[in-house]
Amino acid sequence: MSILQKIGYWIEDRTGLSANLGPLIKHLVPPGAKWAYVFGSGTLFCFILQVVTGIGLSLLYQPSSEGAYASLQFITDQATFGKVLRGIHYFGASGMIILVGIHMIRVYITASFKYPREMSWISGVFLLFLTIAMGFTGQLLRWDSNGVWSAVVAAENLGRIPLIGTSLARLLMGGDTIGGQSLSRFFAFHVFLFPALMFTLVGFHLYLVFQNGISEPPKAGRPVDPKTYKKWYADMLKREGVPFWPDAAWRDAMFGSLVIIAIIGFAVLVGPPALTQPPDPSIIQTSPAPDWYMLPIFALFALMPPKIESIVIFVGPILSILALLALPFFSGTGERSPIRRPWAVFGVVCVVVFVGSLLVAGEIAPWSPRFKTKPLAQFVHYTNPQLERGTILFYKKGCQYCHQITGQGGIKGPNLSQIGRTWTRAQINIQIVNGASEMPAYGGMLTKTELDDLVSFLMAQQ
Ligand code: HEC
Repeated sequence: MSILQKIGYWIEDRTGLSANLGPLIKHLVPPGAKWAYVFGSGTLFCFILQVVTGIGLSLLYQPSSEGAYASLQFITDQATFGKVLRGIHYFGASGMIILVGIHMIRVYITASFKYPREMSWISGVFLLFLTIAMGFTGQLLRWDSNGVWSAVVAAENLGRIPLIGTSLARLLMGGDTIGGQSLSRFFAFHVFLFPALMFTLVGFHLYLVFQNGISEPPKAGRPVDPKTYKKWYADMLKREGVPFWPDAAWRDAMFGSLVIIAIIGFAVLVGPPALTQPPDPSIIQTSPAPDWYMLPIFALFALMPPKIESIVIFVGPILSILALLALPFFSGTGERSPIRRPWAVFGVVCVVVFVGSLLVAGEIAPWSPRFKTKPLAQFVHYTNPQLERGTILFYKKGCQYCHQITGQGGIKGPNLSQIGRTWTRAQINIQIVNGASEMPAYGGMLTKTELDDLVSFLMAQQ
């Protein structure tokens, strides 16, 4: 016996690893579970990628309000592979959210949540919300103006919930206002609490897959009956089952690899989202632009009539969570085939269209300031130093997020390219100092010179 074999025997004798895990890998799965079934394991691949890259980022990240922004700049601009690492973590999060969504839609359309797999669905619902919570807390860790103001908006919304709102907001932020303590809290959520819950739930979710078996592809006219299903499933596996490895697992392995290659590709070619400006408490951003996967939620609240908002904030999430959790109990038996469940399919199409439209609305909405706008000073130059300073201030103070000049900037406020033709110095002064319903008042946030510079710059826009 070679020394390697001896080591192998010793490990197997003392741990029984392959005796116990071997059958799991070889366990029989229903035939015909083809490409539609790869999205769950695809999500798992993303999750592992997030854990690995997250640990990598945490080696350099400083979770303090003084250091966070600078440490991210260091990771992005100087650390070896830092930019790619951030990119993978960002696109990995996006990929995970997309795949969780597709996985869930697939499970719903093939009614795999029915008997005896109700607990798989329930643990999956919690995993869905944890995934979204990870995206949200991760965005704040960038500690740039976008992430910070997104958190503020979320806390303000939470605070509107009757009775418990204020306490919830305090729990989220670690105090009444956003600050270093909020960052510590989000860091702890993002790095310890949520991942610990996710590891446990993912383990449970996978255990259930082995315990109850993968659901067989549905067939019209073959309803699930709890009295006979388990025996029927076991017999069917004996007759037609194929070993998970290699017959079914190669698809998971191949799809997972493609997902990871795509994520790395995006990370290298597109790169992580640019950091917006460091958060400046003197700039009040009335509506920040969160990462794309949070946009539908933000869009929903922006488009809702303000009167019903505080009710919907309270009732909406509770109802949707309850509805999702209750689903397998209300329709836990019967037909699984989508052909026999046209209303279920129609419902899922409606949800997808609704969320998709909110996403588009959030992306193009005039109400969302454009944080990605490039500083005007890159395009417009003045020889007059005061006008030059005004150009810089116009971006630095956030005016450009909402106002366009010569094609650069957001469209939340009016285009100011020709403001000097119709407005007087005094009028512009008052507008900036007092603000308006949709524009922050800058009175206390600008020095006298800064105000003068801005007004002169705007007067020069003819
Ligand atoms: C959060 C978005 C937002 C920001 C930031 C913002 N504005 Fe505005 N601004 C608006 C909106 C919306 C209006 C018009 C509607 C109103 O008056 O309520 C407006 C109106 C104006 C007007 C009057 C123009 C007109 O035709 O009505 C001026 C001038 C102006 N803003 C200048 C500025 C300057 C200078 C800054 C930066 C110091 C700035 N704004 C920052 C949203 C913004």
